[in-house]
Amino acid sequence: MIRAVIEGIGHSVPEKKLTNEDLERLVDTSDEWIVQRTGIKERRITSPGEAASTLGIVAAQEALEESGTKPEDIQLVICGTVTGDYQFPSTSCLIQEAIGAKKAGAFDVGAACAGFIYALDVAGSMVESGRYETVLVIGVDVLTKFVDWKDRATCVLFGDGAGAVVLKGQTGTDRGLVKSLLLSDGSGAKHIHCQMGGSMFPAGSKEAEGDARRVYMNGSEVYRFAVNAMGDACCKVLEAAGMEPGDVDLFVPHQANLRIIQSAQKRLGLDDERVFINVQHYGNTSGGSIPLGLYEAQKQGRLKKGDLVLTVGFGAGLVWGANLIRW
Ligand code: ACO
Repeated sequence: MIRAVIEGIGHSVPEKKLTNEDLERLVDTSDEWIVQRTGIKERRITSPGEAASTLGIVAAQEALEESGTKPEDIQLVICGTVTGDYQFPSTSCLIQEAIGAKKAGAFDVGAACAGFIYALDVAGSMVESGRYETVLVIGVDVLTKFVDWKDRATCVLFGDGAGAVVLKGQTGTDRGLVKSLLLSDGSGAKHIHCQMGGSMFPAGSKEAEGDARRVYMNGSEVYRFAVNAMGDACCKVLEAAGMEPGDVDLFVPHQANLRIIQSAQKRLGLDDERVFINVQHYGNTSGGSIPLGLYEAQKQGRLKKGDLVLTVGFGAGLVWGANLIRW
């Protein structure tokens, strides 16, 4: 059996930091409210000239280097993002060209904060099928370019960031993607969206001038959904793999809100040592969140070869899902 093994990981975040104290000067909020409700202390934000591709390129290059992969050996570039540089071409094509992956196909996967979970499962299936041997998967979002900086209920939550992995097909190993679960419920599209620029409200149209221009979110509805979805997806993917929470060495959940992470942790009965949290430094980086977490966990020595890692994410769609990986 061919396994899709993560052989290298990279990351990138913008240099510019925006703290809760900075936000206090922008909107009617406080460090105390943000920390209490979300766990976030600061986030990184892109500057003019930076975009999804600029972060994705750096993350991809680091992943290639770590895995000792030549750009021309990459056969596919798959980027999970909903904040791509343009409507088209895809951000994965921009990354493909910049890193010199001259022999690769390239496409984006749009699943908001579950973008990396979705992209990794798509890539993993293609590697396991034997059709592709080496695939680059990137998760990146720059939602701070789309939030309304006057809307305190959304602008305090998001940050920008990217992570990338190189997947390689291998036999005779139990490392690699073990199981994935992808789910969706489009009836919840009304709870979180950014409508402008799509074909319903094209840029320049009358409708695109109003609220459609920015990220809209019904926070309490998304919160309710997330608490359920995170725990549920984790239990289902473990069950499908014939495993239990006790088998998990590290849990790397989507970093949207500390309280949501803690409720999933409680449901799984995991102690703090087995839960990775960096939401305090980056906020919700959407598609970048999980690979950024995996990257930092590995750098901190909390994720080692052979460990069983469980990732889970949820986002606009609504979509949610989980990946179980033997690192
Ligand atoms: N500072 C101070 N007060 C605030 C702020 C703020 N930044 N934002 C909202 N408030 C106020 C509200 O106006 C409200 O005041 P009111 O009671 O006078 O009306 C009060 O705080 C409570 O608001 P709630 O929305 O009930 O607060 P809650 O405890 O639910 O926390 C939050 C809000 C943090 C947004 C939470 O609902 C949440 O995390 N939701 C999930 C969001 C999420 O994860 N989104 C990611 C989706 S992923 C994707 O695809 C991009």
